[in-house]
Amino acid sequence: MILQMNKQILTGVVMCLLLATSSCLNTTHEDKLNGTDFPPPLMGWSSWNTYHVNINEELIKKQADALVAQGLKDAGYIYINIDDGFFGYRDGSGKMHAHPERFPNGMKVVSDYIHSLGLKAGIYSDAGDNTCGSIYDNDNNGVGAGLYGHEQQDMDLYLKEWNFDFIKIDYCGAQKLGLDEEERYTAISKAIVNTGRTDVSVNICRWAFPGTWAKNLARSWRISPDIRPNWTSVKRIIEKNLYLSAYAGEGHYNDMDMLEIGRGLAPSEEEVHFGVWCIMSSPLLIGCDLTSIPEASLSLLKNKELIALNQDRLGLQAYVVQRDKDYYVLVKDIEQKHGNVRAVAFCNASDSVHEFHTPLQALELCGKVKVRDLVEGMDLEDITSDTCNYTVPPHGILICRMEAEKRTEADRYEAEWAYLPCFNDLAKKPKQILYAPSSECSGGMKVRYLGGSMENYAEWKEVYSEQGGEYEMTIHYCSPTQRKLEIWVNGKRHESAGLLSGGEDSVATITIPITLKAGYNNIRMGNNFGWAPDIDCFTLKRLSFK
Ligand code: GLA
Repeated sequence: MILQMNKQILTGVVMCLLLATSSCLNTTHEDKLNGTDFPPPLMGWSSWNTYHVNINEELIKKQADALVAQGLKDAGYIYINIDDGFFGYRDGSGKMHAHPERFPNGMKVVSDYIHSLGLKAGIYSDAGDNTCGSIYDNDNNGVGAGLYGHEQQDMDLYLKEWNFDFIKIDYCGAQKLGLDEEERYTAISKAIVNTGRTDVSVNICRWAFPGTWAKNLARSWRISPDIRPNWTSVKRIIEKNLYLSAYAGEGHYNDMDMLEIGRGLAPSEEEVHFGVWCIMSSPLLIGCDLTSIPEASLSLLKNKELIALNQDRLGLQAYVVQRDKDYYVLVKDIEQKHGNVRAVAFCNASDSVHEFHTPLQALELCGKVKVRDLVEGMDLEDITSDTCNYTVPPHGILICRMEAEKRTEADRYEAEWAYLPCFNDLAKKPKQILYAPSSECSGGMKVRYLGGSMENYAEWKEVYSEQGGEYEMTIHYCSPTQRKLEIWVNGKRHESAGLLSGGEDSVATITIPITLKAGYNNIRMGNNFGWAPDIDCFTLKRLSFK
């Protein structure tokens, strides 16, 4: 009993320490200067995309110089991140040394140089024993170079002795060892906390959304396999991130991987790539050779209005409000929450021209709307009807700042916007809660495998009511067998039993009266025992004022 209590207290203490690190990270001096409420997504350059493991001291210094000379530092790109390839060997005490030929003067000299330019320095390791480079890039020095068994020793070296400010922690070695992601990254985080550095930015690189725990340990986490400099890869990563907006925020971000701008994509594809990374608040790490970057790519990377969208003080990730195949409309609040200004992207990822017709209500805007095209940096015609109509070329995007006369209440909340505390994209369990395509559902998506325990719920944290009052809530669900759904509105429980839609993909509805308070409301759905129905969306109709 006492032992168990001690364990609980200890876990509590460790969690507090980890959270303390991340909250310290929330308020660095630099962030205060920037005037942001949360640390914005990281901006900088990383060596991997162009050079893989073939890096060296001179190359890194040249790229850092070029970052400054090209005006990218002034545009906000302040990290120079050394990826895989710097590993030398461990000496008799287990201490890692830099690659003797590539970094003959060691790594501290390199981080000092980066710092001398007013930049921050990033480094790389693996949660397991062997690095990815040792497996896929014939880098023998990567064997045994990972953090496994050297957590504290390596973190002390990288973050204290070598003084790096960012670390990306890959998973190749850990995957081969069959380790558990949450346990591994938690152990590594403890080692980071022990260094006493509270300003280090941590990136989890597990190539899929790892789970909601990641937010307690890292500033950002990769959500996809490695990016490549081609359209198919960019499009696939965007699709991977479409339904992960609930997990970003408060200074923590879904990482869509390093940028392939300046590496051969068509101009309009570069706009989609950069524009979506910006509206989705992904870290922006340039991946090309900065000494020979094409002019058009450079000016896109320096586009002030798109950068402002990425670095917006609210730190939100856009979510999908309209989707049909490869055409999607993304939206997020900027500048002020639930204000009259929103960022909207009309993305045409298909191979032919597409006409978007999007009701203003889907964007929660009404009245006359001022529109600014952020890629072109010019004002477009005001919207004066209740639909916005735009024609977007194939592999093209229109990203706008919209300022409306009035903000409306949402009348539909999609299941694919919900926060699912038990969700991850690691595909380890067969019936894991997830966002699943479903042809009859609005937006073509639903939440599947909801319920079975109290913890496995779906949550909409910000259901907005301007004045509060009585509403009719209509839940759209799919249920092949009779199932129970529990619904909590600001903690008040409702239950609907015997729900049956007749098939996996056929949609039925149920309507219940609910009371919302003015401002943000919390709505949860689940089933503490058996499966709940799959959820498509819910709609709200206001019946009366409070
Ligand atoms: C993995 C990562 C890449 C890169 C390489 C280095 O593939 O996902 O981003 O860091 O390892 O070997």
